Formats: sequence, C-alpha cells, structure tokens
Amino acid sequence: MRVIAVWSIKGGVGKTTAAVNLAALAAREGARALLWDLDPQGGASFLLRVSPRRKASPRRLARRSVELRRMVRATDVPNLDLLPSDLTYRTLELELNARKSPSRRLAVKLTPLDGHYDWVVLDCAPSVTLVSEAVLHAADDLLVPVIPSALSLRTLEQTRRFIAQTRSKAVRVLPFLSMVDRRRRLHREGCERFAGGAEGFLRTIVPMSSIVERAAEARLPLFAVAPSSRATRAFASLWQEVREQSASPTD
Ligand SMILES: Nc1ncnc2c1ncn2[C@@H]1O[C@H](COP(=O)(O)OP(=O)(O)OP(=O)(O)O)[C@@H](O)[C@H]1O
Ligand SMILES: [Mg+2]
Repeated sequence: MRVIAVWSIKGGVGKTTAAVNLAALAAREGARALLWDLDPQGGASFLLRVSPRRKASPRRLARRSVELRRMVRATDVPNLDLLPSDLTYRTLELELNARKSPSRRLAVKLTPLDGHYDWVVLDCAPSVTLVSEAVLHAADDLLVPVIPSALSLRTLEQTRRFIAQTRSKAVRVLPFLSMVDRRRRLHREGCERFAGGAEGFLRTIVPMSSIVERAAEARLPLFAVAPSSRATRAFASLWQEVREQSASPTD
C-alpha cells in the first residue's frame, strides 16, 4: 500500500481535482484505491457523490479502536472507495490533539488497511495544522500542485521548510505545475523553468481547462467526461509519473 498526499498550504491550486482524478485513474487500472477526504470543505466527497456515514464522526475517526474500514464508502467508480468528509471534520484537529502522539495518529489508523488497498490518496485542506503534520507522517509521497506565480512558488518553499521541521519519515515531495494558462507570461516562464523535471518538479504540466469545471459539474472523473482532452491526458501522464516515482527508492 502506497500513501500519496495531495497537499499545499495554498488554497485553490488544484489539490482536490488531482486527488480525485489520480485515485480514479488508479482504480481504473484495476488497483484497489482509497481516497481519504481530510478537508472539511468535502470537495472530493462532493465530486464522488458520497457523504459520511452518520456514525463516522471525527471523534470516532480519531479513536484508535475504531477501524477506518467501517467508515469507508464505495463510490460509483469501480475499485475506488472513499472516506468522506463534511463540515463536521473541522473538529478533527481537536480530536487528534486530545490523543496520544496526535501527529502519528493518521498513520496508525491507516496501517490496518495495508493489504486491502494498493493506493491511498489523501486530499488535504489548504492549511498548516496538526492534521497536516499527521498527513506528513502518514504519506510516502507528497504531491504539491503549483500554479506558476511568485506566491505559489513561495508556498512551495514554505512547504519544504515545514517538512524539514516536522521531522517526518522520508516523505518524497513531488511538485507539479497546475492550472497552467500559456497565454500568461508568468505561466510560460514557469513552464520553461521547470521543464523536463527541473528543480524536482514532475514533468507533467496540467493545463487550465474548462473540461475540469465541466467534470466537476457532472461530478465525474475527467476520463469519464472527455476521454481524449488535453487535461485528461495530462492527469493520465501525471499518474504515470507518480507511479514511476513511487516505485523508485527514496533518496
Ligand atoms: N486544471 C484546471 N483547469 C481549470 N479549472 C481547474 C483546474 N484545476 C482545478 N480547477 C478548478 O479550480 C477550482 C479549485 O480547484 P480544487 O478544488 O481542485 O483546488 P484545491 O487546491 O483543492 O482547493 P482548496 O484549497 O480550496 O481545497 C475548482 O473550481 C476546480 O474545478
Ligand atoms: Mg481541495
């Protein structure tokens, strides 16, 4: 089981879009995939048309004795399960804090799922909190969408510093260019700067595309809405790269 977190301190950079589409692509290949929506906004849960079970409160979620499997729900995408979220998840931080080794708790909760899933994708809220620390301890790879702008790049540096300070296990940071609009000079410059995997970036560039909004409206993965669109192909290529990176040893 490999755990990939999609995380950035910055909001609105394409985390949920990437988390949902990558998990759906994994499932489409026949892998057993679980998407854990850790954001009280519940965006991934909305896109996959699933809400939490009534019993799946953050309090129960944080308890060591309650198995995550009992809170998992199936989605309409074959092989893709979801741990949904809604606004009640805003208290997850408090619930974790009330327990021993809170920053290890998500990792501890995921351990029994090893053997049930090939991939776990964590969709995270745009924040730096105890939940973020717990995500860093649970994840093998950290996928960071970056819009080519000065503020986004600054956020990536903050992300790297936070990881260094958190002393988590060796988590691999995999930034990629997201929501790229080549009509904009800054975006074109960003593409040139990080082309071909420079500065640790993945090679795939996810374009800004109205297809993404259309898929969100239809509440479907991109490949189900526009199988041959540029954005769909970009996510397929991103998934390919993430798989390749995951298979190679961490430095
Ligand atoms: N490549 C893209 N092209 C066009 N629109 C996009 C693209 N990626 C994401 N969007 C849209 O931008 C908005 C923000 O995307 P998304 O929710 O994936 O970002 P996020 O980083 O998860 O946001 P938050 O920080 O609020 O959780 C959504 O309306 C989404 O449909
Ligand atoms: Mg999101």
